[in-house]
Amino acid sequence: MKSSTTRLDRFISQHSAFSMADVRLLIAQGRILLDNLTARSINEPVSKFTRVELDGVCLRNAQSVYLALHKPAGVVSATKDSKHPTVLDLLQHPQKGELHIAGRLDFNTTGLVLLTNDGKWSRTLSSPDARVAKVYEVRVARPLTGEYVTAFNAGIYFAHESITTLPAQLEILSEYRCRLSLVEGKYHQVKRMFGYFDNKVLSLHRVSVGPVFLGELQPGASRHLTALELAQTAYK
Ligand code: URA
Repeated sequence: MKSSTTRLDRFISQHSAFSMADVRLLIAQGRILLDNLTARSINEPVSKFTRVELDGVCLRNAQSVYLALHKPAGVVSATKDSKHPTVLDLLQHPQKGELHIAGRLDFNTTGLVLLTNDGKWSRTLSSPDARVAKVYEVRVARPLTGEYVTAFNAGIYFAHESITTLPAQLEILSEYRCRLSLVEGKYHQVKRMFGYFDNKVLSLHRVSVGPVFLGELQPGASRHLTALELAQTAYK
């Protein structure tokens, strides 16, 4: 993964009149603060969200934002759309122009969408390597059988990309309703997995992403992630 941090000496030279060579002295004189602590080394990493202060002047103070939103049907998982409302249109947040979506849902899919301005966080959360479970409640047109459980666990071959989906857990709740847990997010993945059995998905609703649950959040409403959810999604 591409690193989005800059070394402290480079950051200072890019954001002040001091050169990289000056930074050792500034550090020795205790003139640089990183997230309110005195900087100790020219090698300290400065991320997009590190608060950097030099001689009492703030050079960078960007707030990271992590939101959970309940997407209703008929809303586009995009930041702009000429025809339909987007998930961003549902937000009042002052930094909403900086946000992007960590894992899109189709136009008629409902449920949990995460939004952030932290690209590293969203890339990690969406990466199959992080094995973050995305759980969906699904209603289908034709009766479900144990065959689906076995096939989804073994992986479904998608000829278009020539890939086999990673093992997915299916819990059958009733003849036409089930809960499906995936660790990846291929294009129309759920619909295509049921399509393997020629079974149409009639409704699709995402209830959780990793430790973040939709819970009682109403359609169209959003909330900040809690400190605990953030700690639990600080994937290495
Ligand atoms: N899989 C789909 O087919 N659609 C979604 O919106 C999400 C997962």
